[in-house]
Amino acid sequence: MLRTSSCDRLRLTPPCGGTATTPRRSESFTLSTFRAPPKCPGGIKKNDELPRPLASPSPPPSELDLLFRGLRAAFFRSDHVSADHPAAGVLAARDSVRLRDELIAAGQWKAREYTRTKLLDGDGFMVMLLCWAPECASPVHAHSCAESGIASNCFLMVLEGSLAETVYGEEAILPDGQSVDARFGRTRIVSAGAVAYINDSMGIHKVANPTNARAVSLHVYAPGWKRAPLFEEMRFEEKFPEVDAGGAELEIDSWGDF
Ligand code: SIN
Repeated sequence: MLRTSSCDRLRLTPPCGGTATTPRRSESFTLSTFRAPPKCPGGIKKNDELPRPLASPSPPPSELDLLFRGLRAAFFRSDHVSADHPAAGVLAARDSVRLRDELIAAGQWKAREYTRTKLLDGDGFMVMLLCWAPECASPVHAHSCAESGIASNCFLMVLEGSLAETVYGEEAILPDGQSVDARFGRTRIVSAGAVAYINDSMGIHKVANPTNARAVSLHVYAPGWKRAPLFEEMRFEEKFPEVDAGGAELEIDSWGDF
């Protein structure tokens, strides 16, 4: 068996099997000394079809295209949605600044309110763009559809600014089933680039832009809802106030250690 040395493999082989010549160092850089390869008997003739110029490369996909493709694949793979669903990874892998830049023109703005713009009605999910004016908040809401009762999931990614998410667990829901005790809310800040997830088994929530700058977020609802159940946020005094209750009247027959 004939062994090919690595040097043999590197040697230039002229078209049509001419004799290989290794360019001398000076030749490989000097245009004036460039020697055309020998003409082949079967080479291109005058009227032959010339090689077509290479098609100009298609532009790279937008960040939004990549997101939509990723989400379609993620929900095709699994319709069992939880915090670990592949959609969470798809969202987290996207560049929030590029997404913001691509989407900002699609957003709608209203003073002291937040707006919702549908970007995609997917198979088993929908994508919305939310634009938050400074100092506005959503009502406290669940993520099951108030019409169908179908439970939904919500992934959100902040694209600009930061949002405060206040989550209420079961213990916060008052006996009327329509209001929450604000003292039980747990608030955390979700900053640009971060992803959050919630479903009704984790709690209900409100989302706010507590800052004096605008905020933008992208939400993926799976499967989505037509109308979300709303809850009123009840603000009670502390049960056991540390401070004196001030102008409260003392009842002569009452008891207790004031
Ligand atoms: C909303 O959808 O209107 C508020 C934010 C959310 O829960 O996704």
